[in-house]
Amino acid sequence: MKKIIAVLLACALVLPCFAAKKKGTKVGVSMPTKDLQRWNQDGANMKAQLEKAGYVVDLQYANNDIATQVSQIENMITGKCNVLVVASIDGSALKNALDGAKKKRIPVIAYDRLIMNTNSVSYYATFDNYKVGTIQGEYLVDKLNLKNRTKSDPAYIEFFTGSPDDNNINFFFGGAMDTLKPYLDSGVLVCRSGQTSKAQCATLNWSTEEGQKRMENLITSNGYGPRGTKLDAVYSSNDSVAMGITNALVAAGYTKANFPIVTGQDCDIGSVKNMLKGTQAMSVFKDTRTLAEKVVGMVDALLQGTKPEINDTKTYDNGKGIVPSYLCDPVYADVSNYKALLVDSGLLHRSSA
Ligand code: GAL
Repeated sequence: MKKIIAVLLACALVLPCFAAKKKGTKVGVSMPTKDLQRWNQDGANMKAQLEKAGYVVDLQYANNDIATQVSQIENMITGKCNVLVVASIDGSALKNALDGAKKKRIPVIAYDRLIMNTNSVSYYATFDNYKVGTIQGEYLVDKLNLKNRTKSDPAYIEFFTGSPDDNNINFFFGGAMDTLKPYLDSGVLVCRSGQTSKAQCATLNWSTEEGQKRMENLITSNGYGPRGTKLDAVYSSNDSVAMGITNALVAAGYTKANFPIVTGQDCDIGSVKNMLKGTQAMSVFKDTRTLAEKVVGMVDALLQGTKPEINDTKTYDNGKGIVPSYLCDPVYADVSNYKALLVDSGLLHRSSA
């Protein structure tokens, strides 16, 4: 009993001490853009959870403009932020700005996207990005029945990934390609355009418009259409690009009855609506509330001088060494489970999906 009282007393003395230390402690949160739904969710979650934990939050969005993000980070440093949380636009463009943070001993957490070629990043919090790619790839193996197909009756596919300056595409596209390559090699899966390299399939800034343009070009040059050349599937690494692909396929005359299988990621509301309409097959759900929770835990630990929780110390090399990481779990999503994932979990209101 005495021991319990002693522990309680110690807690009572230490906790207010930590709370007092946190009062006014400032965290800078730099997000890439407000254009895509997920980053709005990420920013809002981070702000809410950090404020709940007692921090003052400087949340900035950089409009997908690298110079804006650099200057916002510089302002966070001069504005005396104690920790920086950064989701980069171009993972390789922040070295100088973050070296400035290191000089002032401000720890930097890379948020969702790894920041490259600098040793000024302390930790990385993200999802298992390779698993995202394999979930998408395995879905295609299954739905295209690749295990039982023969070369005389192959399935036809085109490939799209995201922004070439985002390290995540190595994992999304890499995971999907590792899964699909044996079938491309054996000829039961065919990409008529021949565009299967990461560079050929990249979509700058994960832009819907760019994705749509490239899909329109592929439709024109290969003659794809419900009454034209056969197209069974389009691999897309995420929802914003899938949206452009779907727009182009709808314009080419495809309907629910004959729509090619389009993959995605993020469960953007627009893509969930397309899944309900039958114009996108699946997505991958990444609960950004969990990610925010893990990052707040990292911020707490860094400010208390303890070790943040990590679960991966071998996957994410940023060119200067491995960045210790926490990987959250991505989950397969389609019309059968989107309600449980998005609505019942309290993320969305019933009216929005
Ligand atoms: C990636 C992110 C994806 C997707 C994409 C476009 O870095 O991991 O979830 O949202 O950016 O914003």
